Order: sequence, then structure tokens, then C-alpha cells
Amino acid sequence: MSFQVTIQPSGHTFSVAPDETVLSAAIAAGFNLPYGCRNGACGACKGKIVEGKVDYGDHQDATLTEIEKQAGQVLFCCAKPLTDLAIECREVIGNDGIRPRILPARVQKMEKLSHDVMAMYLKLPSNERMQFAAGQYIEFLLKDGKRRAFSLANAPHNDEFLELHLRLVEGGQFTQYVFNEMHEKAILRLEGPFGSFYLREDTDKPIIFIAGGTGFAPIKGIIEHAIHQQHARKIVLYWGARTRQDLYMSALPEQWQATYPHITYIPVLSEPLPEDNWQGRTGLVHQAVLDDYADLSGYQIYCCGAPQMVDTAHVAFQERGMPEDEFFSDAFTFANPVPKVAV
Ligand SMILES: Cc1cc2nc3c(=O)[nH]c(=O)nc-3n(C[C@H](O)[C@H](O)[C@H](O)COP(=O)(O)OP(=O)(O)OC[C@H]3O[C@@H](n4cnc5c(N)ncnc54)[C@H](O)[C@@H]3O)c2cc1C
Ligand code: FES
Repeated sequence: MSFQVTIQPSGHTFSVAPDETVLSAAIAAGFNLPYGCRNGACGACKGKIVEGKVDYGDHQDATLTEIEKQAGQVLFCCAKPLTDLAIECREVIGNDGIRPRILPARVQKMEKLSHDVMAMYLKLPSNERMQFAAGQYIEFLLKDGKRRAFSLANAPHNDEFLELHLRLVEGGQFTQYVFNEMHEKAILRLEGPFGSFYLREDTDKPIIFIAGGTGFAPIKGIIEHAIHQQHARKIVLYWGARTRQDLYMSALPEQWQATYPHITYIPVLSEPLPEDNWQGRTGLVHQAVLDDYADLSGYQIYCCGAPQMVDTAHVAFQERGMPEDEFFSDAFTFANPVPKVAV
């Protein structure tokens, strides 16, 4: 039996099929609720149940605590309705009409960018293009029903191939396969685009980007989009990594900085090696931002990388006056071992 969901305050309604999550149904109906991992890990989809009951689904305990549940909060990416619902959540503006689709894709090219980062270029069938906003992500659909999320590193104006930057995860099912067994011309199934990590273009506030490791991928897409659109907004990119080789594409932001007076690039290494001869900034990347800005109230901040980095930055930046609604993030959480039903 399907249930009806009403979003407050917009009054939008949609129906949720049996065993479907509230978020999957909302995306399929074209409503842009905020979300990140669709996995119960990042908390970006948290909202309130005003009326009705849900099965909270399978999520990480720290992401939705018992106290939050008692206060009516849920993770819409995991929650399945048990009755009709009225929910309270903000709807995201900006990429209306982009709906995810399931598509086959051929691996056109793989290029090792460092000891543990691989660029993958995917070609969709010749009559297909994926409509997406720069910074969104796709999910690979694995044979056993599992999914793996990777951010799009290209901008939509340059969409002949979908570009991904994959970091090798020790013991990781999918990335081990990519690095050790997969060949060019392999066919993969993917679904996308997903996510609300894209440039808000209704403001001219200066932007601070913070990338950790392969968190550079979606930020690359967003900056390339901004350059293509000839945005004049001031951009400062902080890219944090452990050692010099982990800044696997540093020549590109260096080139942006040399070409565009409104773009500044600040690489930050946390554990530079002696042979790196590193003269640049050191320490944690979010700390470099804190060292440079006493007041973040006038900025829009886009942050992408490991969940701990994103969470720490979020809290610390709020203490520096960053408005809550000017912080956008994608936390690279790990895939949930439980297979998810496709939207
Ligand atoms: C929205 C989103 C976008 C993402 N975009 C990117 C991207 O552009 N590039 C990229 O490299 N990654 C990205 N990730 C992270 C990527 O999806 C995971 O690392 C993925 O689970 C790896 O798949 P796997 O099958 O190799 O590892 P799994 O089989 O899922 O994991 C094996 C083991 O490694 C641990 N593990 C998994 N991932 C990580 C990790 N990232 N760090 C530390 N330990 C881990 C798991 O806990 C598990 O124990 C993104 C994640 C999300 C949610
Ligand atoms: S916890 Fe729901 S989208 Fe991440």
C-alpha cells in the first residue's frame, strides 16, 4: 500500500510505494529535498515528522540519536512511511527538473593520477547524455545489488565523458576491482545524478572551497562550471592532502590561479615527506581556513571530503559566524552494506 506525504511548509505532496524511502520517492517525484550519502551516514537529509509514523530504517546510530527520534526527527533517506505523513523540511532550489536515471556506461579511459587515485572516464550510449549540475554524484549499481557513490569531476558543458576520481580503499570491494581487474571498455551500470552539492548561483558572495583528497573531484566540476559561466565571484580553494603526491592534480588549480585573477589556490599538506621539499601551508585543511578568516559571515562555503573533516569544519566555521544556510557539503561516507532498492 502506498502512502501520501505532504511537505511543509511548501504543501507539495507525493506518494511513497511500499518499501520505498521518503527521500527516494521525493526524488522520483521531482522534489529536491536536501541529501548527501543516501546511506544513513551523513545526516544531510535529516528532517521532522509533523504527523504520522515511520520505520526509521537502517542508519548509523550517531547520525540519528534516540533523543532526536523522540523529538520527531528522521533521516528521510532511510525512513519508510507506516502511515500517511506530514513532514517538515527545507526544499533545495537550483536543479529543478533533473531526475536520476539508470544507464549503462562504457569505461572509455582509466588514468592513474597517483599511487591511490584513478581517473575514470565513462561514455554513455551514443544517444544519451546525463543532465546534471556540476558537483553532483552518481552511484554504480553492483551485481550484488550494492551501490557505490562517486562524484562527477567534469562540468556539464563538457559532458562527452563523465569523469570520476576514485581513491583506492584498502579492502574495498569496488575500488580494488577498479584498480586491479577492470579494463577499459568494461560496461558498468550507474544511476544519477544525485546530490545537492552544487553551486548556488543566486548570490555574488565570495566562495571558499575546501577539498580533502578526492573531495577535489566535485569541486573541480563546480569551478570549471563557474569559469565557463564567466562568474566573477571571488573563489579561494583550499585543497588538503597528506603528502605532495596526494594533491594528484595540483597543476590544474595552479593554472586556474595563474589565469584568473579572482581564483586563489591554497594547497595544504598534513604530513609532507622530507622529499616533498614542501614550502607551502601545513596542518589540517579546515584549520588553514580558520587561520586565514576571523569572520566567515560574508562567505559561502563548499566542503567535500572525509566525513570527519566535513563535520569538524562545519562546527568550527559556525563558531566563526558562518551562516548555517551558506554551508554546502558532501561527506564521502562509506557505502552501507545493506543493498538499497532503486528509486
Ligand atoms: C556522495 C558521495 C560521493 C563520493 N564521491 C567519491 C569520489 O568522488 N571519490 C572517491 O574516491 N570516493 C568517493 N566517495 C566515497 C566512496 O563511495 C567510498 O569510498 C566507497 O564505499 C568505496 O567503495 P569500495 O567498494 O571500494 O569500498 P567498500 O567495500 O565500501 O569498503 C571496504 C572497507 O573500507 C572502508 N571504507 C570505505 N570507504 C572508505 C573511505 N572513503 N575511507 C576510509 N575507509 C573506507 C569501509 O568501512 C569498509 O570497511 C563518495 C561517497 C559519497 C557518499
Ligand atoms: S544520512 Fe540521509 S542522505 Fe546522508
